[in-house]
Amino acid sequence: MSDSLKREAAARAVALVEPGMRLGLGTGSTARHFVALLGERVRQGLDVVGVPTSEATRRQAEDEGIRLTTLEETPQLDLTVDGADEFDDRLRLVKGGGGALLREKIVAASSTRMVVIADSSKRVERLGRFPLPVEVVRFGLASTRTAVADVASRFGAQGSVTLRHAEEEPFVTDEGHFILDIAFGVIAEPEAMAAALVAIPGVVEHGLFIGLCQTAFLATPDGILTLTN
Ligand code: A5P
Repeated sequence: MSDSLKREAAARAVALVEPGMRLGLGTGSTARHFVALLGERVRQGLDVVGVPTSEATRRQAEDEGIRLTTLEETPQLDLTVDGADEFDDRLRLVKGGGGALLREKIVAASSTRMVVIADSSKRVERLGRFPLPVEVVRFGLASTRTAVADVASRFGAQGSVTLRHAEEEPFVTDEGHFILDIAFGVIAEPEAMAAALVAIPGVVEHGLFIGLCQTAFLATPDGILTLTN
């Protein structure tokens, strides 16, 4: 998607922000536009506080002059705005392509409302086109990977379970964990698979966001499409 379309979707979400709101600030190239546009409004006098979903977003928000808080100080947020790697018409999302899924999910679950901003290429009929990220602790990686692969094949995975790398080294999340990416094709039963994944002891979280998102602003060359749940 072009950067200008991402910015348009972000602008629609910024229009929802009201003075005094407690915001969850997403991660990724689309959420980055939201933070930049929010920064402009803050510099014009808008008073809000934000909880960043990654260290990258924290740095950007600080540079923009957005006042930050934590979930310890502010456990309940009004609105989280974030990107997604794919989503279906029930607004079930796959997230974590940028590796921030754990904090993203905690922040989204702490918000009254979650809005996704994305381009229409992220909309799918059935989830699974984008590899599903699973955040795992480093201890016992081989065992956890085997257990994740077993669950993946039970739920129709077509491909392998890969340890994510950043150049030569395994990618490490902001919380110090590794990420396994499952090449699915189609996820047969997202809810049941989500439950099976979290039942594995070494799994911290997975990138399926179910029942968390109420609205999506979809940027298309013909304008912004709004999907609601
Ligand atoms: C970060 O971990 C992800 O969940 C992102 O929100 C997702 O990858 C979307 O990123 P883009 O807006 O860059 O496509």
